[in-house]
Amino acid sequence: MAIDVEKIRSDFPALSLTMHGKPLIFLDSAASAQKPLCVLDVIKNQYVNEYANVHRGVYRLSEKATLNFEQARQKVRHFINAASDKEIVFTRGATDSINLVAYTWAASNLKDGDEIILSQAEHHSNIVPWQILQKRINFKIKIVPVDDNGDFIFEEYLKLLNEKTKLVSVMHVSNVLGTVFPVKEIIRSAHEQGAVVLIDGCQGATHMPVDVQDLECDFYVFSGHKLYGPTGIGVLYGKLSLLKEMPPFEGGGDMIKSVSFEKSVWAEPPARFEAGTPAIMQAVGLGHAIDYVNKIGMDEIELHERQLCQLLQGEMLKIPGIRVIGNSNDKAAVVSFVADFAHPQDMAMILDQEGIAVRTGHHCAQPLHERFGVSVTVRASLGVYNTQSDIENFIKAVHKVKRFFT
Ligand code: ALA
Repeated sequence: MAIDVEKIRSDFPALSLTMHGKPLIFLDSAASAQKPLCVLDVIKNQYVNEYANVHRGVYRLSEKATLNFEQARQKVRHFINAASDKEIVFTRGATDSINLVAYTWAASNLKDGDEIILSQAEHHSNIVPWQILQKRINFKIKIVPVDDNGDFIFEEYLKLLNEKTKLVSVMHVSNVLGTVFPVKEIIRSAHEQGAVVLIDGCQGATHMPVDVQDLECDFYVFSGHKLYGPTGIGVLYGKLSLLKEMPPFEGGGDMIKSVSFEKSVWAEPPARFEAGTPAIMQAVGLGHAIDYVNKIGMDEIELHERQLCQLLQGEMLKIPGIRVIGNSNDKAAVVSFVADFAHPQDMAMILDQEGIAVRTGHHCAQPLHERFGVSVTVRASLGVYNTQSDIENFIKAVHKVKRFFT
């Protein structure tokens, strides 16, 4: 069933803004998505009527706040079909989630001589934590290349996998190429070698249904703010058997069973990984963002965005002088490109004058840009609220940039 985009747009107050006197056309949801009114309202309402710290009081307000916070955890659990609420750890975002896995699971399981596998397309947040950890443990990082279309080269991956591989950590969907990685097959092959798999779902869980039990991934991470929720909240899904064996990431209140000066005993997951006062309202806001996308349907959202992405990609490829980076047949919500007639920075600035918001830069994926021989690209990325007319206006504006420079 087609979604009612006009109705959806009316739920997002920011989409009524004008920029330089033109209606805003927001094409930067891969960086961060706009927020629906229901998320904004619930945050205000709960700060006014249901706010207190969580897990700490027996008074009514604290119990209510705790209930709201834990309900948000249940919503996340159902959203990705985890087997238990205990497998859902709230973090500050996907970056925080990956660092948590690096400093807990990896720091206590990797040893000198081990190998981990990443892809060439990874976001810096799935490269740098491993490089930092390499200063303490002498493991090797092996890289699966992507081909000229931006597809994960599976045969190369199979060549890198061996009994020394302890971890495979790859993205679900590339934030630059839009390529949907064959994560189910990646996970299956890694498990055959006994390796643990982390999936960076920042651009996955936002654009398509995710079922972590079906994928059988060991860890899956994503950020709330790309899923129409608040900033400062993210999710680490981990299989309970792994979480139970992991040491804490940070020490503090709420992550312990007992504390004495002689010895402290850690709480069970997920509390073990949530030291200090958590991002209460951000978690609640994320829960409501999940309610919001569930009401529309993740299948419908995926279909809508894929249709728009195809249209956008097809139209961009028709413009002489445009080179699209990322031509996979399995592509979601992102079109990155360079033009031979304008520098990406100039392109983005002129598009801004037309009311169009796109991102320009390396999108935190410098090795991937290097692979394609460019240092920066312009990226148009889609959300549930984008329309065919957004794409048409964007294409017209790119033509205008071209006329300006040629
Ligand atoms: N990772 C985000 C992006 O791709 C910020 O823009």
